[in-house]
Amino acid sequence: MCGIVGYIGKQQAAEIILEGLEKLEYRGYDSAGMAVYDGEKVNIAKAMGRLQVLKEVTHGGATVPGHLGIGHTRWATHGEPSDVNAHPHTNKNGTIAVVHNGIIENYISLKKKLKNKGYTFKSETDTEVIPQLLDYYYNGNPLETISKVIQRIEGSYSLGIIFADHPDEIYAARKSSPLIVAKNDEGCFIASDATALLRYTRNVYYIGEEEIAVLKADDVHFYDSDAEEIEKPVTEIKWDANAAEKGGYEYFMLKEIYEEPKTVRDTLNPRIRDNKVVIDELNMTDDEIKAIGKIHIVACGSAYHTGVTARYVLEGMARIPVEVDIASEFRYRDPLLDPSDLVIVISQSGETADTKAAVEEAHRKGCQVLAIVNVVGSSIAREADKVMYTWAGPEISVATTKAYSAQLIALYLIALKFASARGTISDDQLASYIHDLRKLPQQIELLLGEKEKIQKFANRYTAAKDVFFIGRGIDYAISLEGSLKLKEISYVHSEAYAAGELKHGTISLIEEGTLVVALVTQKDLYDKTISNIREVKARGAFVMAVTNVDNPDIEKVADYSVYIPETDQFFTNSLAVIPLQLFGYYVSLGKGFDVDHPRNLAKSVTVE
Ligand code: F6R
Repeated sequence: MCGIVGYIGKQQAAEIILEGLEKLEYRGYDSAGMAVYDGEKVNIAKAMGRLQVLKEVTHGGATVPGHLGIGHTRWATHGEPSDVNAHPHTNKNGTIAVVHNGIIENYISLKKKLKNKGYTFKSETDTEVIPQLLDYYYNGNPLETISKVIQRIEGSYSLGIIFADHPDEIYAARKSSPLIVAKNDEGCFIASDATALLRYTRNVYYIGEEEIAVLKADDVHFYDSDAEEIEKPVTEIKWDANAAEKGGYEYFMLKEIYEEPKTVRDTLNPRIRDNKVVIDELNMTDDEIKAIGKIHIVACGSAYHTGVTARYVLEGMARIPVEVDIASEFRYRDPLLDPSDLVIVISQSGETADTKAAVEEAHRKGCQVLAIVNVVGSSIAREADKVMYTWAGPEISVATTKAYSAQLIALYLIALKFASARGTISDDQLASYIHDLRKLPQQIELLLGEKEKIQKFANRYTAAKDVFFIGRGIDYAISLEGSLKLKEISYVHSEAYAAGELKHGTISLIEEGTLVVALVTQKDLYDKTISNIREVKARGAFVMAVTNVDNPDIEKVADYSVYIPETDQFFTNSLAVIPLQLFGYYVSLGKGFDVDHPRNLAKSVTVE
């Protein structure tokens, strides 16, 4: 998500950090900062906004001289973009400085414990607990202290750390967030992304999960989480700078699809505590939740599609009536809203004009607005009454993938929270739902492991003219997204239909060889959808089915089948969407299009 660069060696650290961070600008960020040791103390410079501002404030790094430093570009997750929330964060005396990428899931309980011990906090970030914890456990030996701290933090992290009383070393550690180390004749480096280092060297070391690196000006050592030394091979990076930006993937879209397991974990895990759903941002008592008359979900495009899924999940689990609206329609239909209704708006960018207008409409009619947003501090986040952030990180590809998956998770969590508060599910059911949610990241990884199968299939359909996606219930909601993913990047006409609705007109478009993608994940509806598959097959369609692993009978009717692992019926969208995203991606790739920048589309639609 954010960017990290650190340097120790013969050169001025600040210049190298600024150059490196510049290479990471493409990832998106809202503030930047660095900590440099000047021979006596650690000096910190931070600035909200572009890196250029930090450059100006530090006169290109000249005001923070020294040969040892760590730098960071921040993309806000916990706490708004601001100077004080920007990294590095320090302990009280400013003797320990830390830059961090990732999310510390247990930061609230750690913060509470530290506050009880007299520690005070300046920022709203999860990161600040790290320098404070390091301070708390510090015994003069940074390696031992870091080892202790990483055993106490939960979540994902890549860390760059400096200790003023060990001015010849930089420390680094990581778990579930990338960080590499490199060395040349001029010094040693850390970076969250190889792009930042390519101008200095192509020989890097990959730090493993929960491992620690200690960098000196001319040497690097690696340790496991118990501080036992380990050996690491050097790896030569062969990508060019362009491929390195994308982590070796050909397009950001594929990279972001591969980030989905992490995105799901990051959005989910911090909100599950002691087998309960805890959404601090919701700040609603059970009585307030019980008093909700109706939920209106309003969004655009893919975000709207997550809303369509959420209607089934919320109504099914929490038994609250839900209406779902396309934001550009909602604002002009004078919707009937009661002040007891809750309006949920969903937006990756937080800047979509129609969704923003929906917030205003809801407020005009006296309703509370809960926004599910990815960009911290965005307009919608500021205007809504409550904000639940998806922690998908910056999404660069125009076609959304990982933010969509994160939105689904946020909505499942709301449904579970509301269902338990309203007593419509038992504790045992809640535990079983949580169990299934926790399995999703690994199951997505399994599906990603089969990407070649989808690629092969997609290559057969690069010349397709029309494709239909059909499904019932939640499968209809998945169809909407599968169809949009295909058409927006591959320019193949496609439509999503509720499977039972086909015969009311659309079926006349099916002819010999038309591809129909049938979503068949809802067990109660298997037979019904299979009848619809037979109807299109009788008219010559070629059917690709996406179904559950326990439904091999599908092969009797479908021409090609993709299986998703076992999960609860409410959550199948999170798995079924993966082959559909890959299908859209590979059709576009096969046609030679610029997958990340489809024609006529913008990442954030700030006009009506
Ligand atoms: C499709 C896509 C769009 C967005 C829509 C809403 O891949 O990205 O359909 O989902 O424009 O954007 P946000 O979520 O930023 O409000």
